[in-house]
Amino acid sequence: MDLIPTTPLLCFSCLFIVFCMSYSVEVEVAVAPNNTAITTIPVNVGMVLDLDMWVGKLGLSCFNMALSDFYSNHSDYRTRLVLNTRDSKGDVVGAAAAALDLIKSTQVQAIIGPEDSVQANFIIDVGNKARVPIISFSATSPSLSSIRRPYFFRATHNDSSQVKAISAIIQAFGWREAVPIYIDNEFGEGVIPYLFDALEEINVRIPYRSVISPVATDQEIEEELHKLTTKQTRVFIVHMTPILGSRLFDIAKEVGLISEGYVWIMTNGMTNLWSWMGHSDMESLQGVLGVRNYVPKSKELESFKVRWKRKFLQDNPSMVNAELDIFGLWAYDAAFALAMAVEKLSNANFSFEEPKAVGSARTDLESLGISQNGPKLIQALSSTRFKGLHGKFEFVNGQLEPSVFQIVNVIGNGEKAIGFWTSKYGLVKKLNFTNLTGYSTSRANLGTIMWPGDSHSAPKCKRLKIGVPVRKEFKEFVGVPPGSSPNSRVNPTGYSIDVFEAVMNAMPYAVHYDFYAFVSTDGEDIGTYNDLIDQVFYGKYDAAAGDISIIANRSLYVDFTLPYIASDVVMVVPIKNNSNTNALVFLEPLTGDLWVMSACFFVFIGFVIWVLEHRISEDFRGPPSHQVGTSLWFSFTTLVFAHRNDLIENSSPLVSKIVLHSREEERVVSNLSRFVVIIWCFVVLILTQSYTASLTSLLTVKQLKPTVTDVNELLKTGENVAIKKGSYFGGFVRQLNFNSANVKTFNTTDVLDELFTKGSANGGIAAAFMETPSVNSFLDKYCMKYTTAGPTIKTGGFGFVSL
Ligand SMILES: *[C@@H]1O[C@H](CO)[C@@H](O)[C@H](O)[C@H]1NC(C)=O
Ligand SMILES: *[C@@H]1O[C@H](CO)[C@@H](O)[C@H](O)[C@H]1NC(C)=O
Ligand SMILES: *[C@@H]1O[C@H](CO)[C@@H](O)[C@H](O)[C@H]1NC(C)=O
Ligand SMILES: *[C@@H]1O[C@H](CO)[C@@H](O)[C@H](O)[C@H]1NC(C)=O
Ligand SMILES: *[C@@H]1O[C@H](CO)[C@@H](O)[C@H](O)[C@H]1NC(C)=O
Ligand SMILES: *[C@@H]1O[C@H](CO)[C@@H](O)[C@H](O)[C@H]1NC(C)=O
Ligand SMILES: *[C@@H]1O[C@H](CO)[C@@H](O)[C@H](O)[C@H]1NC(C)=O
Ligand SMILES: *[C@@H]1O[C@H](CO)[C@@H](O)[C@H](O)[C@H]1NC(C)=O
Ligand SMILES: *[C@@H]1O[C@H](CO)[C@@H](O)[C@H](O)[C@H]1NC(C)=O
Repeated sequence: MDLIPTTPLLCFSCLFIVFCMSYSVEVEVAVAPNNTAITTIPVNVGMVLDLDMWVGKLGLSCFNMALSDFYSNHSDYRTRLVLNTRDSKGDVVGAAAAALDLIKSTQVQAIIGPEDSVQANFIIDVGNKARVPIISFSATSPSLSSIRRPYFFRATHNDSSQVKAISAIIQAFGWREAVPIYIDNEFGEGVIPYLFDALEEINVRIPYRSVISPVATDQEIEEELHKLTTKQTRVFIVHMTPILGSRLFDIAKEVGLISEGYVWIMTNGMTNLWSWMGHSDMESLQGVLGVRNYVPKSKELESFKVRWKRKFLQDNPSMVNAELDIFGLWAYDAAFALAMAVEKLSNANFSFEEPKAVGSARTDLESLGISQNGPKLIQALSSTRFKGLHGKFEFVNGQLEPSVFQIVNVIGNGEKAIGFWTSKYGLVKKLNFTNLTGYSTSRANLGTIMWPGDSHSAPKCKRLKIGVPVRKEFKEFVGVPPGSSPNSRVNPTGYSIDVFEAVMNAMPYAVHYDFYAFVSTDGEDIGTYNDLIDQVFYGKYDAAAGDISIIANRSLYVDFTLPYIASDVVMVVPIKNNSNTNALVFLEPLTGDLWVMSACFFVFIGFVIWVLEHRISEDFRGPPSHQVGTSLWFSFTTLVFAHRNDLIENSSPLVSKIVLHSREEERVVSNLSRFVVIIWCFVVLILTQSYTASLTSLLTVKQLKPTVTDVNELLKTGENVAIKKGSYFGGFVRQLNFNSANVKTFNTTDVLDELFTKGSANGGIAAAFMETPSVNSFLDKYCMKYTTAGPTIKTGGFGFVSL
């Protein structure tokens, strides 16, 4: 009884167990082929970093974490990157040797690193030769990339992408000058040409460049900074590595350059590595602005930050303050990109082609193999796209495209984000572009900034000092109110000043300036225009405005604008005295010959008409005296009246009466004589018209005839001439062979008039040399007495002066 129920139960149980076992075996069988089918291919990659340095440590830890994250998510991938790490020991040669060793002995498919741009240069060339891609997440110098270096990939942005952000800040505050301070190596110099271009575009001058050696002592840095204190520029752009940069700022603080009125802007070379600098260094950075790459917040990023910190502290227990920064993210994303690209090549043969002539090879370089997969790998890398921790990851021309820069202001122990810069919209307060149109460089788009020296107002751009000459005469050009002192602003008037102000207002940006009179402390004119130009050259004034002639000699010292008014040097002479006008002036229009000829023709025509008419016309008959009289009277009337009866009939009754009466008797009848009369009338017409014209011009022009028409006349007679006191063309006048004793000077137009009145014989002058604008105002006053004469000497015109 007992057995019966148990047997089926037992059987059932056994069956169940067997079923279960067989099921579980089935499950295992299903799993097994999956696991055994994947035999992973190890792929060697190298890494060359300064493992003593922050970026090296950070890069290594992030890269390793990236690989383990990547393969735990993509366990089905056939390839596995195997990292071979070499320490470059912060040395260019060390980095080069490490790279060569990795390629030769380990046959790495790609090299990550090196850390900085200086080490990168040689390694990139080695990579190009061996066809091994070099992927750097921290070498940012723009000079590294080139189309001749297809094996270089920059898993970061090049430095030149931020220069527009810096120039936008400078433009926002209207500063006119900036001095770049940069480290003297590949990293420092790479960005400088781009910075210059960007600043030039917005018309910011770079009066000076401050280059600091990577191995400079504190003393040398101090000397360099002392030089900066003597310059007028107050805006500095620092492009350095954080170590040298924080030393520089410490010394700048001591020298007094981090104080009110100064502006310091750091490139991302320092700002990106903020956390590393630690809080102790913040003291000398108060009020400094910085530009850095912006990483949008994301959940993945936050969780990675926490995981990374835990892991990093395990490995480096001493670095408690370490914070993940953007170089870590770039390293992390670069690892993903490389792993993805290598997986695309999983069917490839990962060995190296042996160099051709191994036997004779003496150096490492000659015996370098060539990676068979190089070309395929760079293609795979170029086409790799994904959303990385730092944002979109995609190589464009072998480097990442920058998106947004953040602008920060150092305050207290931290930094305050005051705005963003994007290439499309310029400066923006928030990254919400819905309402934005166009590129903005408005100051309003930046948050409040605390400037160095705890100042809350933005350091102003320097007001330009414009020197103006003081003239007692010709104030039409520059009129300075009398009694001006040299150190206070003046409000000059006049044409030159009007032009200057109009030009300044038309500038695309605001320029602030003040006018200063070029006078001594007691308000006296202290020099010539050359002296004023010397003062611009010596830096007392930034520019000079006035009726300043553009001359070759002056342009050796200063810069001129284009001329705003033409000016020539001309000779001014008195007008010939015309008071004893010739009573016979009416004879002058025609020469004696012509008078005689006219008289002869007059008689001749009378004779011809008489010959032709006296037989047929009653009028030409009678006693001989009457005949002679009629003929001459006839020729004379043709001189005065036209021979057209209808014209006479149409004119006023009185005229026609007189004329008709006088002409009643001698009407020509023969056609021949009519022909003669027509010709005679024509000759008469020309004669009378030219007589009238000549007489008119004689009577008017004669009034304005100069006493002297030529310089040679003056030289021949040894007359005196005058030039304005301090005018530049004294030398030129002497070149015309005037004896220096014959060259006098005048300071006012009244003095000039007096000299002219005296006359050369009495110590006065016969002529003066002046510039046309002055001549015009002189003749305005004395137009009845003087005129210009002789040659016109072309000059450059009047321009404004700046250094
Ligand atoms: C086996 O691998 C394939 C892809 O290679 C995957 O789709 C499948 O889920 C795996 N099976 C198991 C049981 O893991
Ligand atoms: C791994 O995959 C999971 C699920 O697809 C995803 O949520 C996670 O972000 C991935 N991790 C990494 C590091 O990509
Ligand atoms: C640097 O990056 C910018 C932005 O991506 C790019 O336009 C420029 O061509 C790059 N310069 C060099 C030298 O690669
Ligand atoms: C890979 O290439 C090397 C040299 O070309 C050759 O010796 C080797 O047999 C290849 N291996 C495979 C698996 O094809
Ligand atoms: C952007 O601004 C618009 C209004 O201008 C607002 O409607 C929108 O929600 C904002 N977007 C974000 C992401 O803040
Ligand atoms: C966007 O523009 C609209 C219309 O000009 C305006 O009403 C709105 O306030 C703006 N929004 C923001 C956030 O500036
Ligand atoms: C040339 O110009 C300079 C600057 O104004 C001046 O100091 C110098 O005397 C001039 N030389 C001559 C020969 O005019
Ligand atoms: C012209 O002659 C008159 C009288 O002869 C004299 O009074 C006058 O001063 C002279 N003018 C000049 C410019 O010589
Ligand atoms: C012009 O020069 C004379 C001496 O040469 C001097 O007495 C006079 O004050 C000067 N006039 C002006 C306006 O400078």
